[in-house]
Amino acid sequence: MLKTSDILDEKDKRIRAKNTDVEFPLKKEEKKLIHDMLEHLYFSQIEEKAKKYNLRPGMGLAAPQVGLNKNFFVVCHEEKENTFKNYVLINPKLISHSEELIYSSGGEGCLSVNRDIEGIVPRYARVTFEGYDENGKKIKYRAREELSIAFQHEMDHLQGILFYDHIDPKDPFKNAEFMREI
Ligand code: NI
Repeated sequence: MLKTSDILDEKDKRIRAKNTDVEFPLKKEEKKLIHDMLEHLYFSQIEEKAKKYNLRPGMGLAAPQVGLNKNFFVVCHEEKENTFKNYVLINPKLISHSEELIYSSGGEGCLSVNRDIEGIVPRYARVTFEGYDENGKKIKYRAREELSIAFQHEMDHLQGILFYDHIDPKDPFKNAEFMREI
């Protein structure tokens, strides 16, 4: 399984490096990595497992965070209490989004950022992404609210962008009145 120490810290160069598209069929190691990333995220959101393996809760991971500079990310989203849904997006593209902006009330977190950073990260309330699943099948996902934020956060990673790049350090809560807090 993927340990906490397998996730790169923001200071690692690979976090900001360029990522390239994945070729199909996936290599065995890539499939295993996707599985391990999803397992890590799932366990991290189950209190007993998180405690046992010393995991920080997280719902998304992008390939560069585990040292692979390729265009894909995974999200494990708790849809209802104790019901999780896995998303794998390979070579993803944002194809449409709402006008409406939202931000996460507690601020955003990232498994590669091991410090608290306050401030507003503007995100689209609703997004549609296209990409491929691990079998090379074309997929399309519509996401809203928390899941929409997660998709945009992970998509940023593929461009070497971290959530706090969107925060103005001089005025971390600016423009809050133009967005909906969730
Ligand atoms: Ni992140």
